[in-house]
Amino acid sequence: MSYPYQIKDLAGYHEAYQKSIQTPDAFWGEVAENFTWQKKWDKVSDWNFKEPSIKWFIGGKLNITENCLDRHLETMGEKPAIIWEPNDPAESHRIITYKQLHLKVCQFAQVLYNNGVKKGDRVCLYMGMIPELAIAVLACARIGAIHSVIFGGFSAQSIADRLDDAKANFIITCDGAYRGAKDIPLKSVIDDALVGNKNIQRVIVCTRTRTAVSMLKGRDVWWEDEIKKVAAQGTQFVPAEAMDAEDPLFILYTSGSTGKPKGVVHSVAGYMVYTNYTFVNTFNYHPDDIFFCTADIGWITGHSYMVYAPLSAGGTSMMFEGIPTFPDAGRFWDIIDKFKVNILYTAPTAIRSLMGFGLGPVKEHDLSSLKVLGTVGEPINEEAWNWYNEHIGKNKCPIVDTWWQTETGGIMISNMAGITPGKAGWATYPMPGIEPVLVDDKGEEVVKTTSDEEPGILRGNLCIKQAWPSTIRTTYGDHERCRTNYFATYDNLYFTGDGAFRNEAGQYRITGRVDDVLNVSGHRIGTAEVENAINMHAGVVESAVVGYPHDIKGQGIYAFVIYTGSHAQDTHGTADMVRKDILQTVTRIIGPIAKPDKIQFVSGLPKTRSGKIMRRILRKVAEGELTSLGDTSTLLDPAVVDEIVKGVL
Ligand code: PRX
Repeated sequence: MSYPYQIKDLAGYHEAYQKSIQTPDAFWGEVAENFTWQKKWDKVSDWNFKEPSIKWFIGGKLNITENCLDRHLETMGEKPAIIWEPNDPAESHRIITYKQLHLKVCQFAQVLYNNGVKKGDRVCLYMGMIPELAIAVLACARIGAIHSVIFGGFSAQSIADRLDDAKANFIITCDGAYRGAKDIPLKSVIDDALVGNKNIQRVIVCTRTRTAVSMLKGRDVWWEDEIKKVAAQGTQFVPAEAMDAEDPLFILYTSGSTGKPKGVVHSVAGYMVYTNYTFVNTFNYHPDDIFFCTADIGWITGHSYMVYAPLSAGGTSMMFEGIPTFPDAGRFWDIIDKFKVNILYTAPTAIRSLMGFGLGPVKEHDLSSLKVLGTVGEPINEEAWNWYNEHIGKNKCPIVDTWWQTETGGIMISNMAGITPGKAGWATYPMPGIEPVLVDDKGEEVVKTTSDEEPGILRGNLCIKQAWPSTIRTTYGDHERCRTNYFATYDNLYFTGDGAFRNEAGQYRITGRVDDVLNVSGHRIGTAEVENAINMHAGVVESAVVGYPHDIKGQGIYAFVIYTGSHAQDTHGTADMVRKDILQTVTRIIGPIAKPDKIQFVSGLPKTRSGKIMRRILRKVAEGELTSLGDTSTLLDPAVVDEIVKGVL
């Protein structure tokens, strides 16, 4: 069995691509026919990048959960929708069929209603990777509440900022989360985030680790108690709210080049159609395949390719609570073997880290069920690609290198498994509906190669010409920010913030961010955000943060810090406490994921006469390229550079 819009071969890709670019409305209208609509759309699309105003399936009414659940009940009610593997392999796994998931989502939707949640309310989810997180996401969508999932690695302060920005009035959390050998006290972090918060009406707490938690009367309720009430009410079914195609589905915060994360907003219909289409076609998904996306639901990859797309396609989504190295580095391979996973979708950083453990953990497991492999989140280096191909795919599984972003909702540039050819390190071809273009800094389309060494290769800033169904709609509460960030750099183009190459065959290779955004283990972190956090530390005068190549994480965080505070005498040597103090501050302000890998104390930063930090020089220092720092004569004080070079870590 396959899907009516499933591309079958290379010619089929070219045909779909041509049609999608020449007549996008006809193309997407046809794809959208395969979904359940409460009312069909009047017009497929209407958009301009000026404002920006982006609308798809205008006038249509639907609910994404009817597409993810209800419509599958009759034909595949007993099929596993989610297979969940716990952190601890000694605990039992859970298999949740479509019928069971539907019931659980309806019951939790009723819990939300009982607790006063209404359509349009913003609900923050701060949970571990348990099925209840997917259930909560879907229950919000069922009643039209806008979910905003926050990754468990963010601090109370980060949560407080996001709650404030989203004007959230409800929270769903867990007592704690298991991650490898650690228990993360989620509810306690939420309590810290809520000090002084006046908007949150209710916190629903799901039991997972059964750690002691404070439960405030009138505000905090247990998930299980609320479900019992609903069961006593006899609720088996909650009708799906009729959503306008353009109603917001969720907010997901992501880092940019400014200090404050942005709340990326996606709307219901376009997101549903595009994620489903790209899921089926990129992975060459067939309805009985078991799809294992290793991302956390706190990131866009988990939203799109663990929850919404596999379920809207009636597929089986594998969900894993733990980490790849617990209890040992064979955990992914064990899961693949145990559940006969067919498609594995993971990040290059995970592959690199597992490579470090050698082949022992791989060899103990039968990986012959695998048909397709995928990567996402950062460029994949050739060594990791080759290892993945040879030792995991046994040279018989296509590897799809999927390039996309939180803002794009779904995969934008990627080879398609078994359909279009792959190429190590290259994302290759655009998806149907996506028209990439490379521009220079002035916004002129790049048409000529600038390098003799790589004839035929064009380099430039990667932009997209036409809107696609899951284009970012706005940044929550600040539309102007959305415009200036993505649509104002170049006229009439969506600017990705990435640089890329294109070869004569029209394939793309993404080279990484061209703005001040780092990609650490596949996660986006703005240098300005980290600098702000470091500068909050008492005694820090100023700091500058840059990325440097890191064997496992892809990029590491290197901070240059001017510090004149207490204990300044112990900013030397390895057992230095001030460094640890700064790391604590960053952990408090953002979370452990933003901790610098290296902190170098300096007495000054290289600045131009107008006071701008010359990051180019700092980047070279951090990369260890000390002999090619370029022209430093325009600096206010060139001597700082010598000092920085001497102290490099
Ligand atoms: O720089 C690109 C990189 O990750 C950024 C998007 O990050 P985020 O919104 O967190 O979403 C990550 C998961 C979709 C991009 O701007 N990136 C993502 N995928 C790739 C990639 N870089 C190279 N190759 C990829 N396949």
